Amino acid sequence: MALRITVVGVGMVGEQIVSILRERNFPMEWPPRVCATRERSEVLAGENLLVEETSEDSFKGADFVFFAGREGAEGASVTWRSVAEAEGAICVDNGSDFRMDPNVPLVVPEVNLDAIGPENKFIASPNCSTIQMVITLHPLHRVAKIRRVIVSTYQSVSGWGVRANEQLIEQTPKALEDLDDIPFDPTVLARPIAFNYIPHIASFTEDGYTKEEMKMVKETQKIMGDESIRITATTVRVPAFVGHGESINIETEKKLTADEAREILSKSPGIVVLDELNPENPRNDPLERIYPTALDIRKYRDEVLVGRIRQDKTIENGLNLWCVADNLRKGAALNVVQIGEGLIAKGMVKL
Ligand SMILES: NC(=O)c1ccc[n+]([C@@H]2O[C@H](COP(=O)([O-])OP(=O)(O)OC[C@H]3O[C@@H](n4cnc5c(N)ncnc54)[C@H](OP(=O)(O)O)[C@@H]3O)[C@@H](O)[C@H]2O)c1
Repeated sequence: MALRITVVGVGMVGEQIVSILRERNFPMEWPPRVCATRERSEVLAGENLLVEETSEDSFKGADFVFFAGREGAEGASVTWRSVAEAEGAICVDNGSDFRMDPNVPLVVPEVNLDAIGPENKFIASPNCSTIQMVITLHPLHRVAKIRRVIVSTYQSVSGWGVRANEQLIEQTPKALEDLDDIPFDPTVLARPIAFNYIPHIASFTEDGYTKEEMKMVKETQKIMGDESIRITATTVRVPAFVGHGESINIETEKKLTADEAREILSKSPGIVVLDELNPENPRNDPLERIYPTALDIRKYRDEVLVGRIRQDKTIENGLNLWCVADNLRKGAALNVVQIGEGLIAKGMVKL
């Protein structure tokens, strides 16, 4: 039986969900029902598709609903979750509204697909920066038990959504004219982003962290099933369109050498290690290594790329790493489609 799918939201993530369902031959009736805040037609997965205004009708007969709307009280999953569930659909949500609900599994298939039980009809997908971090940390945690994580992120504008991408495009020529007078919309990003970086993602909490930073802490502990891991984060927006980078420092209970970590990670699902001497040696430096950058996700679209693995010489059992992933694909759309595939593989959704 071909599954009936509804995708709610056709912004940066929703558009990718539709493409990925097509690319991976998800066992579904094509096209999916696609809905947003207003009706129009849009080119999605290379086809002109009707986008409906979301209504109760959008969920009729749906087997799966992928939510990729905005978050909060008027957001897509808060508004429509109960309607979708009443229709008997399994829901997978990209937003943060239900991630920390103890009755909602928070899932990265490479790490904790087994968190989903037969009773779970609503599943949350983590924040983009959390997903690539847990895929990198989980295999190391299993071998050496991670005690502490210090992470700093370099997050692309698409992580905010369509309007932040537009801000970078609009600001770039203006910034080239006059760096002191770059028009910007503070309701999107708090400062101009062209030729800049901003250590402020989501709103601040009373203790001076941001909600994005606290998501990385809480979500990682929930997915890895270990609240004893101490995590501290600084999240920064950078002027790249797609692709988040993360500098991660870990302290482990058992010692791991950089070579051992490289070996473990290179055998782990969803990871490509790019960390060896650069065979091309273009800068005439015999020690120059290869490492991932945001543009490398154009080649490695679905994996988390890990490089710069090295010993932290300031502590007994410490490592430094660098990881990069496509925040719209593995950080969001691909993760939810893989959750759907995982449910089918577990027999929780009958074809
Ligand atoms: N961007 C990322 O890297 C990323 C990563 C992980 C998770 N997420 C999460 O994924 C979700 C989507 O993010 P995005 O970046 O794709 O945002 P976006 O580009 O701003 O797009 C949001 C989409 O949701 C629709 N929408 C908003 N409120 C709605 C509602 N109440 N009912 C139905 N549709 C609604 C919008 O409709 P219109 O088109 O009609 O305005 C738009 O199509 C958010 O929850 C976000 O936090 C994003």
